[in-house]
Amino acid sequence: MVATLRAPIDVQIEITQSCNQKCRHCYNFWRSNGKVIKKGQHFSRSSLQQIINELVLNQVISITITGGEPFIRKDDTFALLSMAKKSGLLASINSNFSLVDDYDIARLANEYDVPILVSLLSSDPDKHALLSGTSKCEYTRVIKSIERAVHYGLPVSINMVLMKENFSDVNDLARLAKELGVKTFCVTKALPNPRNTENDFLLTSKEVLRSLQDLISIEKSLQLPVDVLGCYPKCLLVGSDAYQRFFHRVCVAGKTTITIGSSGEVRPCSHITRSYGNVIEESLEDIWLRMDDWRKDYFLPTLCSNCPISSWCTGGCRVNTLETGFGNMDMHADPEILTGILIDQLNPERFKTKLNDLSGYLVFLHPKVKFREEEFGALVYRSDQWSMIFVNNQASDFLKNLRHGEIFSSDEFLKKSDATCEEEKQTVLNLFNRLISKKILVTSKN
Ligand SMILES: C[S@@+](CC[C@H](N)C(=O)[O-])C[C@H]1O[C@@H](n2cnc3c(N)ncnc32)[C@H](O)[C@@H]1O
Repeated sequence: MVATLRAPIDVQIEITQSCNQKCRHCYNFWRSNGKVIKKGQHFSRSSLQQIINELVLNQVISITITGGEPFIRKDDTFALLSMAKKSGLLASINSNFSLVDDYDIARLANEYDVPILVSLLSSDPDKHALLSGTSKCEYTRVIKSIERAVHYGLPVSINMVLMKENFSDVNDLARLAKELGVKTFCVTKALPNPRNTENDFLLTSKEVLRSLQDLISIEKSLQLPVDVLGCYPKCLLVGSDAYQRFFHRVCVAGKTTITIGSSGEVRPCSHITRSYGNVIEESLEDIWLRMDDWRKDYFLPTLCSNCPISSWCTGGCRVNTLETGFGNMDMHADPEILTGILIDQLNPERFKTKLNDLSGYLVFLHPKVKFREEEFGALVYRSDQWSMIFVNNQASDFLKNLRHGEIFSSDEFLKKSDATCEEEKQTVLNLFNRLISKKILVTSKN
């Protein structure tokens, strides 16, 4: 079971259902096999403002504008960016980036400085066109837009949805991403399409692991930051480097995120069709409370319930199942693999800060740090970038009571906690370390 937050942290807003591409693999449930099966809906401006007001009221921290294709409703997308900016909400955009011109990109950079996640399926124009149901010209437009956006200093990342057909293209696309100067190269395994029974494009477990190993090699050889945008059952990754590298990715549906569809319906995750209420008609608070089943391991598959690390792992992805049904096993999970492995060996290296590693370390709280009160303590985040962490009440009080720029050491941080035994001290220092890695605490040397 995970700590219940008072509200989501990030909200995906599907600003429109319309899209200029026809990706067969697309999870948008109003399409099937690349064909639109429902007329494209979109929000009115007043509904968008109503949603933003509701998010601010609930102290949501960020929004991700998605769809459909956000730039098919360019004016609405810019209007939403402007509403978010005025309200102090961080924003980012998921786009295929084929519908923006030079003026849009300059505006995105100069007025919003907004991170863009661009979907690109291959560095081969024919392959990209085939898999996205578009033309080679469209591919050229996407590449030009990325070049321009990088030139304007926008933080652009590429997301490659990986399936059988583009499985062998990862290294070539990574090289192109490096040449283009993108911030991060993400490779995300394709998830089953909720309306499409022809899921023959999905990768096998072996292929998924191979793609993660490829990513780790790319990160080293090209010096290009990499990531994955889905989550993986830990039993799939154990015994490989991917276990340490991608341990942080777990299911966050209804725990830290939700998706608001283009008529206001609220879903725990973009890939899930079940709505828990409509935010145009009732409060987000009520809808969020109704989603408690997602926070109470209600959908943890029975076979995962005896697993020693099920609370960290959350059983992989609730939609990566061969048959629809949230309690089904992730198709890449096999909890028996973990039998006989000691829990300590399953604990990732980065959670194992040595007590004296940090002794005497001097730090101060970054001036742009903000706090969102929670029952267990607080959500601490940087208001100028994507960086956040949960802390308990003691750590929250300690950080909140610091004077502006006040320098303190790990020893003082430890003293303020009530940790007595080595194990508790270790936990406190792990937190101190993570606060530094998240740039919430800044080392006084910097
Ligand atoms: C549905 S798209 C909408 C935004 C935009 N039109 C785009 O292409 O990025 C949102 C994200 O989902 C990813 N995506 C689409 N279908 C997927 C699938 N079956 N599995 C995993 N990710 C998928 C896309 O690559 C994109 O990053």
